[in-house]
Amino acid sequence: MTQSTSDNQQPLFGVIAEYDTPTAIYNASKKVRDAGYNRWDTYTPFPIHGIEKAMGIRMTKLPWIVICATLTGLTTAILLQWWTNAVDYKWLISGKPFWSWPANVPIMFELSVLFSAFATIFGMLVLNNLPLFSHPLDLKERFRRVSDDKFFLVIEASDPKFDHGATTELLNATTPVVLEEVRDERTSSTAVPKPLVYILLLGLFGSLVPFALFAKARSSTMREGRIHVVWDMDFSPSYKPQSDNIHYSDERGMRSPVTGTVARGHLNADEHLHLGKQENGTYALTLPSTVAANDDIMKRGKVQFETYCSPCHGTAGDGNGIVHKRAEALGGAWVPPANLLSDHVRSQEAGKLFNTITNGYNSMKGYASQIEAEDRWAIILYLRALQNSQGIAASELPEAERAQLK
Ligand code: HEC
Repeated sequence: MTQSTSDNQQPLFGVIAEYDTPTAIYNASKKVRDAGYNRWDTYTPFPIHGIEKAMGIRMTKLPWIVICATLTGLTTAILLQWWTNAVDYKWLISGKPFWSWPANVPIMFELSVLFSAFATIFGMLVLNNLPLFSHPLDLKERFRRVSDDKFFLVIEASDPKFDHGATTELLNATTPVVLEEVRDERTSSTAVPKPLVYILLLGLFGSLVPFALFAKARSSTMREGRIHVVWDMDFSPSYKPQSDNIHYSDERGMRSPVTGTVARGHLNADEHLHLGKQENGTYALTLPSTVAANDDIMKRGKVQFETYCSPCHGTAGDGNGIVHKRAEALGGAWVPPANLLSDHVRSQEAGKLFNTITNGYNSMKGYASQIEAEDRWAIILYLRALQNSQGIAASELPEAERAQLK
């Protein structure tokens, strides 16, 4: 719009009438209302009771817009959840039904509220023609007293019923203090400010970015995870179980240890101690040098024997343990535990006994995983004592003991 020196060349915005009292503008409003004008308004320093009725303002359409938005939100929530859970990507959770409305109430509620809130805010802005960056009345000197003590009624020229002569006459009849024309004197563009346009455009394009990413994700496969904020040790260069490793001819990521690998502290190089073997490979006849034949080891052997061996072989070693007795009582196939006092066992080398405890013998299982090597030797020491305590010839007994037998 070009600057003009003459008022008459600027477009007419409307006619403004000024009043001194609320009553005056109230009565004037009724007249304008009855005359059937549409685009007009009153401007007052404070709210006047009943003015909206006098002006014939109807109830706002906003509630209808909001209820439509609410129902749209509700429908969206129902369709969204029904489609994702019951149709497109069924996922069975604890045998629950794919579609059951109570489970979906929170989202229905949320979307209803969300859509309503947006409809309320944006509906209000649109219905009020907001945002409005300038108004012809802003430049009217007289109009400034609207925030102080004057009452104004403005009929806009854009009203279909507006007729300069008739409208002026109508307002004149309401006895205003002043009656004037309002020209649109705005010199700058009434359009939305440039920076705001750029910001809005930027926002518009920005809002398309997520959709572009969705489209890309749908048509491509990703090897890396999504944006990873905290890395921790999530991406370790080590190979995961069952993964492939092209550096080996069989391409397997899981490797067995190199043959002959020994865990630290598990070399067990002492063959006497760990295998019960002599240097020439035959069964050792004695305890290894690391296990001393003293009272402590004897007690240790007793505890271990009574824990691991006596249930079958009996506390005396005669093969009459509680497990054996119960098996006998139950009947059926049962290999009786050996009598450890028998000549067959008495004559065995210490190393052979060690091998039996370590690896088992026929239907008796090995105890290597439960009993330490040293303790297995302690058991043998105690077993020897058991054997020596029973079944010897009377002539071998000490003098005092022999006397008691008679
Ligand atoms: C679950 C029952 C059971 C336990 C516990 C058990 N054994 Fe035996 N043991 C047997 C049976 C059964 C036999 C006879 C195996 C056969 O002849 O088939 C046997 C045999 C033996 C023999 C004779 C091996 C041979 O050369 O004839 C020895 C020695 C022996 N056990 C020592 C032990 C010692 C020491 C323990 C404790 C560390 C032990 N057993 C714990 C069931 C048991």
